[in-house]
Amino acid sequence: DWTMGAYREQAIEAIRAQVGDNQVICGLSGGVDSSVAAVLIHEAIGDQLTCVFVDHGLLRQGESEEVVTMFRDNYNMKLIHAEEQDLFLGALEGISDPEVKRKTIGKLFIDVFQKHATAIGDAKFLAQGTLYPDVIESVSFSGGPSVTIKSHHNVGGLPEKMGLSLVEPLRELFKDEVRALGRELGLPASFIGRHPFPGPGLAIRCPGKITRAKLDILRKADAVYIDQIRKHGLYDDIWQAFVAILPVRTVGVMGDGRTYDYACALRAVTSVDGMTADYYPFTHEFLGETATRIINEVEGINRVTYDITSKPPGTIEWE
Ligand code: XMP
Repeated sequence: DWTMGAYREQAIEAIRAQVGDNQVICGLSGGVDSSVAAVLIHEAIGDQLTCVFVDHGLLRQGESEEVVTMFRDNYNMKLIHAEEQDLFLGALEGISDPEVKRKTIGKLFIDVFQKHATAIGDAKFLAQGTLYPDVIESVSFSGGPSVTIKSHHNVGGLPEKMGLSLVEPLRELFKDEVRALGRELGLPASFIGRHPFPGPGLAIRCPGKITRAKLDILRKADAVYIDQIRKHGLYDDIWQAFVAILPVRTVGVMGDGRTYDYACALRAVTSVDGMTADYYPFTHEFLGETATRIINEVEGINRVTYDITSKPPGTIEWE
């Protein structure tokens, strides 16, 4: 794509001009936006960039290994893998209110990020994968969880607090353009096509109190579900798909015994921008097969439901 080729060269020049020989830090989530921003900036300034990847214990199965392998081993980036599972899960203990969960995670995220950024020493810039729609939305959108979305997602307030200037090389791009730029930069298709994943991670897919045991069950069920979607060639037709573990246990029968395990809900939606969404019309065959697999393969779940709520009136996430 020649347009993105030109954009890439221009963006690299602009980053070099802005940053000079100063150090830059970047919060890497493993999502498309922050990944593309990091790779672009790394191409521009190499080891002047340090990425911080915060593992809050609310990631999906295999996710932290994927991110670390991709950026540290494949791209040779300076990457801090902040393993803060105990900190986050400890602070979340007993909390069931969705907004309190988000605030708790958002605050700790900033603390952890700041701790590592301070340790890097003389960083003068903070890089973010802010897109054009984020720029618009943070100004025009009021009410609802999106306000906290953006402030968490883009470590709001932190640059001022730390006296850092922002580097936002994707500020003029829409999502599809970011994906094109990512391809131009050689990021694998599997990374570029990834479904969005919220900053608070599995916390908002576990309504009620969060426990390590529930998170383990959720991660396993989610992995089976996504595997099913990939095997049926549906991944790229879906905007976002995930499992939510419900805060209720129900009775079932398995073999000659009675079970009393968690129920879960499958979610899959189509959308253009996440602001509105329709549930994905899976076949009954797919749903039946997936339910059977989850119940057989995931200990702790004995009932599977499919969420057919569109947005509005539902949200995509369960919290
Ligand atoms: P909802 O659930 O509001 O989600 O329909 C719309 C999109 O935003 C994502 N989302 C979040 N992303 N922090 C994030 O970084 C959040 O707190 C958050 N809440 C929702 C959601 O995954 C979907 O893509």
